[in-house]
Amino acid sequence: MTILVTGADGYLGWPTTLRLADQVDERIIAVDNLARREWVEESGSVSATPVEDAEERFAELDGVSFVEGDLTDRDFVLQLLEVYEPETVLHAAAQPSAPYSGINGERALYTQQNNISMTLNLLHGLHEMGLSDSHFIETTTTGIYGAPEFPIPEGGAKMENEGERDDVPFPAMGGSWYHQTKSFNAANMRLAESEFGLNISDVRTAIVYGTETAETNAVGSQTRFDFDYYFGTVVNRFCAQAVAGYPITVYGKGEQRKPMVSLEDTVESLVNLVEQGHDGGDIAVYNQVTRPVAIVELAETIAEVGEEFDLNADVEHFENPRDENEEHKMEMENEAFLDLVGGQQQTLEEGIRDVLGTLVEHEDRITSHEDRFLPGVLTD
Ligand SMILES: NC(=O)c1ccc[n+]([C@@H]2O[C@H](COP(=O)([O-])OP(=O)(O)OC[C@H]3O[C@@H](n4cnc5c(N)ncnc54)[C@H](O)[C@@H]3O)[C@@H](O)[C@H]2O)c1
Repeated sequence: MTILVTGADGYLGWPTTLRLADQVDERIIAVDNLARREWVEESGSVSATPVEDAEERFAELDGVSFVEGDLTDRDFVLQLLEVYEPETVLHAAAQPSAPYSGINGERALYTQQNNISMTLNLLHGLHEMGLSDSHFIETTTTGIYGAPEFPIPEGGAKMENEGERDDVPFPAMGGSWYHQTKSFNAANMRLAESEFGLNISDVRTAIVYGTETAETNAVGSQTRFDFDYYFGTVVNRFCAQAVAGYPITVYGKGEQRKPMVSLEDTVESLVNLVEQGHDGGDIAVYNQVTRPVAIVELAETIAEVGEEFDLNADVEHFENPRDENEEHKMEMENEAFLDLVGGQQQTLEEGIRDVLGTLVEHEDRITSHEDRFLPGVLTD
């Protein structure tokens, strides 16, 4: 029996593959088309942490086989499933950047075709290859919930109309062409569960921060860490800006809260989910978030922890150019996720200490690409 990990060369995929290799007995098939490396290069940036050649990094791992291939290619997916018959598919491959998907219609189309066809190919492939008992897990995103004024449920919601009530999946309120791909995938997973009887877990991942895990340290190969406008997520980009000596800019009051989770909690919960399996019932939905954090709290924590590394990061408030509620609370239920991970493993402060500790070692790589904090011209 095997575990198929897609997107295994990515930011989350690499440390998750390492922990799986350490903790489970099954063989791991790690798949990636290395597109993330090209997107970042195309935007003229680099990973702050040096990332070695993919063949090289996977060759050193016992029990892990790397397969380079494009999961939008249906024949490739069918072949993978036929040959390896995975008991679990952990699908973490995606074009995951909202700003990249919003550059123009071409990137929006690419992102939607890429992300939606991979999930469709895998869901249909499992059915067609007679692997309906396998466990299919996809990391979608908390972004598909939007920012409603009521507490966000973990999964569906109750809807009332003309005096009648029913359970409905939460509507697709993604705020970007990328986020909508995950809304679409969540809907397709629901359909695959009812049409094919597949065992599906939809893990709605929040904004992840962190650079290292015990396993990345043990093998001496850190996960990639992007800080540019297109691929640096907010916490990671703020930390890189602090290391490069930029003030941390907060729009308006900065009291709007965003859902966040550390790399450690993300990896640990995904590995636990693979090990635990699926109970054979309905789709399991996890809000993979430890807690929503206000942007101003985030900025102040970075400034405070930064002092331990002799960084003098100022927090500056600017008039908000965005039309958003600066006090949005973003309440989100996460009991199922907290059960899965066994309680929060790493606090925001610890996570930021990890990030800054790594980044100060690679300050030159950041400062030599600091113009990439802003949107720029893409080479293609
Ligand atoms: N990092 C976050 O903060 C975050 C937040 C919410 C959701 N997620 C989700 O978690 C997953 C992993 O995200 P990440 O941050 O590690 O992104 P990433 O870009 O670092 O990793 C995704 C990997 O998928 C690969 N890939 C993309 N298209 C492919 C294709 N057609 N065939 C084969 N491989 C392909 C890329 O090369 C990349 O290595 C994604 O599904 C993403 O949407 C991430």
